[in-house]
Amino acid sequence: MTSPTAIASQLVSRAYRGSILHALGKDELAYFADGALLVDAQGVITACGSWTSLKDTLQGVEVIQYQPHQLIVPGFVDTHVHLPQMAVAGCQAPSLLEWLDTHIFAEEARFADADYARAVSEWFLSELLANGTTLASVFLTSHPGASQIAFETAARLGNRVVMGQTLMDRHAPDSLLRPTAQLLAETESLCKQWHGANDGRIQYAWVPRFALTSSEELMSGLGTLRRQFPDVFLHTHLSEQLAEIAAVKAQFPWAHDYTEVYERFGLLGSRTILAHGIHLCDEELDRLKALDASLAHCPSSNFFLKSGRFRLMDVLQRQLRLGLGSDVGAGPALSLLTVMKDAQYMQADTLVPLATLFYLATLGGAEALLQGHRLGNFEPGKEADFVVLDLPVTPVSSRMPEVHPSQDSEALLSRLVYQGHQQWISETFIRGQRVYQRAAIVQD
Ligand code: GUN
Ligand code: ZN
Repeated sequence: MTSPTAIASQLVSRAYRGSILHALGKDELAYFADGALLVDAQGVITACGSWTSLKDTLQGVEVIQYQPHQLIVPGFVDTHVHLPQMAVAGCQAPSLLEWLDTHIFAEEARFADADYARAVSEWFLSELLANGTTLASVFLTSHPGASQIAFETAARLGNRVVMGQTLMDRHAPDSLLRPTAQLLAETESLCKQWHGANDGRIQYAWVPRFALTSSEELMSGLGTLRRQFPDVFLHTHLSEQLAEIAAVKAQFPWAHDYTEVYERFGLLGSRTILAHGIHLCDEELDRLKALDASLAHCPSSNFFLKSGRFRLMDVLQRQLRLGLGSDVGAGPALSLLTVMKDAQYMQADTLVPLATLFYLATLGGAEALLQGHRLGNFEPGKEADFVVLDLPVTPVSSRMPEVHPSQDSEALLSRLVYQGHQQWISETFIRGQRVYQRAAIVQD
């Protein structure tokens, strides 16, 4: 429980002084080698700039001073991740459909046990914070009880999430299937309880797993719910692997392409988050743009399951809403730092600008989840979600701090993208409150 003194100490305006890097747009960064991030008592950013320009405005403000090897960046946004796959991340299989059958469905079935659901929820949601992820769009399991536990845990730990019960009424083991009407009633009830909870940190999403596990009745029911609750999200998978797409064609012969299946039932719009989209054709991309849907690019997962190469440059050029996703458990780890690197490596012939990768991991993700107006960078008026990173101190830089690349934002960002590691995350803040601090390493 938080003590009264801890609460009082959180109600103080603070200035966080250190190196600060944030994205202003897809191609634009702001960097202050000696900067200050000013946060008011409500956790809202009042200014961000160089220390010299802001230092005279700080009467009565507590100053938190960081070290030269530390860097302050906006919290990372994971636009696609599965809570119940945490324990089986990294378990290989030859294809998506075999991987689901071999590892995933059996693991998700374990969430019928409330103790197991509680333990994994606690582990996953605290690991998000330890990875600097301050906003995540999360799949749960089909169990309403386990879903309830995940929401309660997120509320307790202070996570920002867009999250929902995963809905399946066909083509999965019986233990994970539920009658359509029951699923629709359960998900509506969870939505009513949790959408907007914890001061807006928790938002609800309708989560049909993908077309293959969804009956037309289920998708039609979700279309109705979307009209009834227009500010609730819808999160699903789209066009990930060729065998999956062939099966979708067989199951929905009336659809010209995978996108049309969701389109037919009114599931696509500006609050729709579509994971993968690897094999979308030009026309599908154009339709998704016209519908203002968001894509979640999950390169680590796409490498792991050999799904194919995401058309990153075509998507960026069309200005679709786009964020990055770890897609744990097909992605092996939660760190958006490694996901940025994999997004770069996935493009065979194009060097993706570092600024664009960083944008996608922060502001782009927030925009994909329709929260760019209040999160994603350090513009005044936004909520103070940020991460403090410890860049490694080398034997040379510890003796000669001037060789540390903190004066050069391009070099700094390059190291972040290519070498960044979860262990670099020192502290994580959501709305100005510290929600994670790495334990000090005790040395003899
Ligand atoms: N398609 C349907 N379910 C899943 C899942 O759990 N992970 C991924 N990567 N793709 C899916
Ligand atoms: Zn997924």
